[in-house]
Amino acid sequence: MYSLKELEEIVKRCRRCPLSETRTNVVFGEGDVSNRIMFIGEGPGYNEDKIGRPFVGRAGELFDKMLKAVELTRDDIYIANIVKCRPPNNRNPLEEESKNCIEFLRWQVKIIDPDIIVCLGAVAAKNIIQKDFRITKNRGIWYSKGKFNIIATYHPAAILRDADKKKDAWEDFKAIKNMYNKICVT
Ligand code: URA
Repeated sequence: MYSLKELEEIVKRCRRCPLSETRTNVVFGEGDVSNRIMFIGEGPGYNEDKIGRPFVGRAGELFDKMLKAVELTRDDIYIANIVKCRPPNNRNPLEEESKNCIEFLRWQVKIIDPDIIVCLGAVAAKNIIQKDFRITKNRGIWYSKGKFNIIATYHPAAILRDADKKKDAWEDFKAIKNMYNKICVT
């Protein structure tokens, strides 16, 4: 089993797909290995690609506010993406790109071994929960896969585009915090 640091070094050298040719930085993910809850986004955007850290742009700012509203911080979570390199013009990752890259995410999950996995948006949910996942219909529902409790909510960027999604996202974050208190806080 790799350590997170070893895995990060491997991912930083990855040349498996054409996204590696256009990236500025690999965005591996962040958070302490002992954290019990993992959030999964889609892929780096412009700002993340520039500095090599996840969720640092406008969507990231909103994400931090949502965490704060349920009394969590980045120190409590691990955060990563389905693809580690920015898709050009922030397009959705292609199926082939996600398939290639998700192997690294699987390793991250193995190493961190979280109790809760939160999919941020449809791309993460389709890759992690089920292929035909419908974010408007299936968000806010708990799924169990092996030992993992998995839920999906709206991607913060989707909430920035459509403020009507805020209310449902808030309900989801409260449910996530309740589950966290129940199974992660000892
Ligand atoms: N959107 C994502 O899905 N991931 C990031 O890291 C930033 C924006």
